[in-house]
Amino acid sequence: MQQSALFKTAQLGPYTLKNRIVLPPLTRSRSSQPGNIANDLMATYYQQRSGAGFMVTEGTQIEPRGQGYAWTPGIHSAQQIAGWRKVTEAVHAEGGVIFAQLWHVGRVSHTSLQPGGQAPVAPSAIRADSVKVFIETGPGAGALAEPSMPRELTTAEVKELVQLYAQAARNALEAGFDGVELHCANGYLVNQFISAHSNRRSDEYGGSLHNRLRFLREITEAVAEVVGKERLGVRFAPLFATTDEDRVYLGLVEEDPHRTYVEAVKVLEQIGIAYLSLAEADWDNAPELPENFRQDVRKVFSGRILYAGKYTAERGERAIEAGWGDLIAFGRPFIANPDLPERIANGWPLNPVDPHTMYGGTEQGYTDYPAYRA
Ligand SMILES: Cc1cc2nc3c(=O)[nH]c(=O)nc-3n(C[C@H](O)[C@H](O)[C@H](O)COP(=O)(O)O)c2cc1C
Repeated sequence: MQQSALFKTAQLGPYTLKNRIVLPPLTRSRSSQPGNIANDLMATYYQQRSGAGFMVTEGTQIEPRGQGYAWTPGIHSAQQIAGWRKVTEAVHAEGGVIFAQLWHVGRVSHTSLQPGGQAPVAPSAIRADSVKVFIETGPGAGALAEPSMPRELTTAEVKELVQLYAQAARNALEAGFDGVELHCANGYLVNQFISAHSNRRSDEYGGSLHNRLRFLREITEAVAEVVGKERLGVRFAPLFATTDEDRVYLGLVEEDPHRTYVEAVKVLEQIGIAYLSLAEADWDNAPELPENFRQDVRKVFSGRILYAGKYTAERGERAIEAGWGDLIAFGRPFIANPDLPERIANGWPLNPVDPHTMYGGTEQGYTDYPAYRA
């Protein structure tokens, strides 16, 4: 097993990864309150998982308006940067490579999470449906809620947001991260600009696909200026719906996902970023990514391609051997198995994940999953 495709080293920008097993971004909602600050418990959690060849943090909001769920960490205040430094130091002590996932939820938020109780911001004033946010109802207590009606960003505000991404990237470097990943998936802000259903703008950020990809292009360029394109990744979640139920994903619909995302990937290729992360639909009976889409992505993108979504070690190996993927992320298996790479290498059994302790809470279901004892 040691010689399997997952355990071959890989080059990612300037980093030689010890294996191709990735800890994907996983929101766990355990930052310190008040202030949404990364803490010692989070440092322990990431350190436990540093057997991964490559790690990406949970989504971390780039500014106060970027938050859509209580207790998620931010990367815009001095305390937050200091908190993240604990995480990067703990991971680096184990020889790990870790990028910060820069997140802005846009309209997937609630007035109670917004500065001054204002409306969330979005490309257009269209409310997200079929998705819930998570709000605090008391210290340590919370509840799911409908997203609030957003207000449309002015053109000048969109340009300011591009600068907020660049600033968050500077903060990530200050916190000791090895690079950053832009969260452009799952119906959040960047995805809201890309989809014609959530973007009805009449300025240069709306209308044609070229215009709807402008925000993506500008933030990717601005962040590449800060961290270097070789330390930059972008995450998409293209959805190829086959049923009406699937068609609405986190409140977003994509009419022509193949064309939309191949064009989006071309934007990234022009900038020359290190990797593309593709999050596949991960619910039961979720639609598969079409083979020709995977191949077209490979054709237009020369960087590393990372896949996530219900992968087993065997399926991940096949993806690498077949040539359409370079790195494979394991989400829920990594939550429950801090020593996942070692377990895969040795064929050891996996702990099952407890869905009740995924978001929020203490060390229970977070840092207390046991490593395998032979
Ligand atoms: C608890 C949980 C939190 C997640 N948080 C994020 C996140 O912050 N950012 C993101 O891009 N994806 C997030 N995802 C998606 C995962 O990165 C991954 O794509 C997904 O879990 C599928 O992989 P799996 O089937 O191996 O779990 C999350 C998934 C789970 C289960």
